Amino acid sequence: MNGQSGPNTGKVLDLVAKFEKVFHSKPLVIRAPGRINIIGEHTDYNEGFVLPAAIDKAAYLAMSLREDEEIHLVAADLDETFSVRLSELKPVQSPSWPNYLLGVAAQFQNSGLRIRGFNAILSSEVPMGAGLSSSAAVECATAFALNTLLEAGLSRMEMVKLAQKAEHEYAGVMCGIMDQFASMMGKKDHVIKLDCRSLEYEHVPFRLEGIKILLLDSNVKHSLASSEYNVRRKECSQAVDWIREQVPTVHSLRDVTEAMLNTYVLPRDPLIDRRSRFVVLENKRLEEGCRDLENGNFEALGKKMFETHHGLSAQYEVSCRELDFLISQVEGNPDVIGARMMGGGFGGCTINLVRENALPALVATVSGRYLKETGKALTPYVVSIEQGTSRVY
Ligand code: GLA
Repeated sequence: MNGQSGPNTGKVLDLVAKFEKVFHSKPLVIRAPGRINIIGEHTDYNEGFVLPAAIDKAAYLAMSLREDEEIHLVAADLDETFSVRLSELKPVQSPSWPNYLLGVAAQFQNSGLRIRGFNAILSSEVPMGAGLSSSAAVECATAFALNTLLEAGLSRMEMVKLAQKAEHEYAGVMCGIMDQFASMMGKKDHVIKLDCRSLEYEHVPFRLEGIKILLLDSNVKHSLASSEYNVRRKECSQAVDWIREQVPTVHSLRDVTEAMLNTYVLPRDPLIDRRSRFVVLENKRLEEGCRDLENGNFEALGKKMFETHHGLSAQYEVSCRELDFLISQVEGNPDVIGARMMGGGFGGCTINLVRENALPALVATVSGRYLKETGKALTPYVVSIEQGTSRVY
């Protein structure tokens, strides 16, 4: 259940050995982590704030350049391969995993950066569809690997933007910047307070004496996530458009107050009001939650996490029965300081801040009840906060 601290050396060496066997050359290896988010959900594409961190589960990518124009990819965990010529780069329908690498290569090409063919082997510890940004991890690893091998000189921020664009164009999810940012910029034992409008950020210490971060994976794969995610984005911009008709200084939900929603949105459409009100309140919760963190007041922060969950479930409607059940099982338990569903929604994990000594019993009880209620197994992960993307070999 516990992850390790720092790079997974065994995995790196296995990957190098496999690479030498398959491609007869020496690779570099990049580690790019998945992420958690303490609070601030669906706020990034509304120019609000988020509070994510990189974790001890990562994608590992071994890569070397080729002399020709071909891309040869291996997904070690799936035992699948994929090849394409640089001149024929386009999103693929099935399998979907190559898109995260090809999308980044295409961005290098589109930005006019010199690119060459490459060989790559991918292996990841970030569970897929669990809301831990397994795709952002692969995109960041690819951007970092290509940037290093091609000596393209991109900054971390440029790579973040390029990885985000890859997700838009090759995975079809109009995601915000949080996931790629957290994977690239994470710092051990710190969360990142990121202003998604200015892209200014601050690493805030996240000291958790006696408290662990427990993720409970519902094992519900978020199949609705990409389509409904894009719908939520449109609903938010609809609210902004309506308000802008009267208040032209408003550019995003970041600038919107509850009073504006009452006047310009609620009378026109209660659904659009619910969606945008969630975002306005979530930004407020994050600001206050950051002050709680500075004051070491985890209880107050935890309370806000529960409020976020209820907002995501009732107002933003991106939760599901299984996630709501998991929260109902821990809310009110004095050993659970805060909990909520995490990420885009429609499945994946809940994040729980839990007192360490209560952990084993809690996991056992909730797993049993979850199985009984849903017929599904629960997968628990205790995660730690680690460094962002880096070269590990
Ligand atoms: C997904 C997206 C992020 C963010 C979250 C919700 O993880 O990739 O950009 O919008 O959902 O907060």
